[in-house]
Amino acid sequence: MVLKQVIVSDCEAFLDQNRLKKLVAQAAVSYVLSKISVHSIIGIGTGSTTDFFIDELANHRDKFYGAIASSNASATKLAALGIQVIDLNSTSDVEVYVDGADEINPLLQLIKGGGAALTREKIVAAVAREFVCIADVSKWVDELGKFPLPIEVIPMARSHVARELLKLGGDPVWRQGVTTDNGNYIIDIHGLWPIKTDGSLETCINQITGVVTNGLFSHRTADLVFLGTEEGVTTHKPDSNLDGRSS
Ligand code: 5RP
Repeated sequence: MVLKQVIVSDCEAFLDQNRLKKLVAQAAVSYVLSKISVHSIIGIGTGSTTDFFIDELANHRDKFYGAIASSNASATKLAALGIQVIDLNSTSDVEVYVDGADEINPLLQLIKGGGAALTREKIVAAVAREFVCIADVSKWVDELGKFPLPIEVIPMARSHVARELLKLGGDPVWRQGVTTDNGNYIIDIHGLWPIKTDGSLETCINQITGVVTNGLFSHRTADLVFLGTEEGVTTHKPDSNLDGRSS
């Protein structure tokens, strides 16, 4: 009986979170439509919130040229919905990149990589003119680091990288059974909260030999965040978080 109640309340929480994800996806599609033309290329992230965004965006597939995907999973979904998937090497012109996050702080710095797509996500974010992050309110935190920080590593360097990460004071855990789209492994660093967001940690981890990149977005932050809350969708810019307004 108690177990049944726990399962029912877990299901309700899941459905509620999905409702908020769909709301922000709709808000992001409206925003993106105001920015694009039939020649535009849109960057598309990875994860369940982005999946809602792709579903909504597909209704407008004739209003833009195509999409750059940050993962094979998103590329497959885009293609299945009739959206042209473009190789990033064939363009430098990505109007806007839309993606989810695992944690977001008030400076719009992020932890990403829960879905193991962090490297391609960082690449598309680096190229895009604007990075729009979409999430339900559970991802909003005062300080980053309760979510374990994902690191993509070259497989033969896994143990070396883990030993080096230990020196940073965290607890590195190999995400066993996961291989990234680039053929690499993921190590998640637990216990780093609160993460330093002056950029030094992100740079320091990336300098360990064998690290491809890490999921801390403290240099390239989001430019705009749409957050799904019970009161509606709030928009956040780095300078105006105290004024996050409902739309
Ligand atoms: C994938 C990511 C995702 O954006 C992040 O994990 C959020 O996913 P979701 O929208 O499913 O909560 O970084 O690597």
